[in-house]
Amino acid sequence: MQLQDILYSQGFGTRRVCAGLVQQGLVSVEGEPVTDSSAAFSEQGLHFTVQGVPWEYHDKAYVLLHKPAGTECSQKPSTYPSIYTLLPAPLRQRPNKGAVQGVQAVGRLDQDTTGMLLLTDDGQFIHRMSSPRHHVPKVYEVTAKHALDEAQVNKLLAGVVLDDDPRPVRAAACEIVGAHHLRLTLTEGKYHQVKRMLAAVGNRVEGLHRSSIGGLALPPELAPGQWRWLREADLAAVRG
Ligand code: URA
Repeated sequence: MQLQDILYSQGFGTRRVCAGLVQQGLVSVEGEPVTDSSAAFSEQGLHFTVQGVPWEYHDKAYVLLHKPAGTECSQKPSTYPSIYTLLPAPLRQRPNKGAVQGVQAVGRLDQDTTGMLLLTDDGQFIHRMSSPRHHVPKVYEVTAKHALDEAQVNKLLAGVVLDDDPRPVRAAACEIVGAHHLRLTLTEGKYHQVKRMLAAVGNRVEGLHRSSIGGLALPPELAPGQWRWLREADLAAVRG
């Protein structure tokens, strides 16, 4: 693929802007400066820098973000900064079928929830992961206002009825980890589900953190606000 098309596909701007970046000497490929924007490279696994910023070619982008508190999972946030401001511009500007679309969050977390969030520009992946038939377990670390007890755990496991659906929702797993710390596994993702489930058993969520999705746990070295690429093995673990 020509270098200008490689940069374009990765979200570095229009083809014209990308050609300009190369011609101005702002791009290096595998450590070597390249000024011919139509020079061709095998794109798979290609490493390059644009204005000194290292990048690697990805056909589709799959990333993991450690969502910090006080951020909204919306492109047009109402009160708090958008999680998308935590991502570098190329991830936000990747073209998709000719339009600038960038990566999208796979589901949403509340503004005060922290932890694992996946983002991708693979529409099929988002669809599959969000489908109710695709029961990917998600683990939440809950800080509860009131002390937890076995009666609450048993109700969460047996199923509680929320206000928008007569069918009970149940936790796939639920364990008391500390007097006020519950580890809850859900295989679906209704609006405010954890908060509403805790309220249904007479408790209240004071802190919420998603610690894993499928077989992939949030890496401890990924600080709040940081992101990293997901590799094939990570994606296999997520899919379970
Ligand atoms: N359940 C909630 O109540 N909030 C979240 O952010 C995620 C799950």
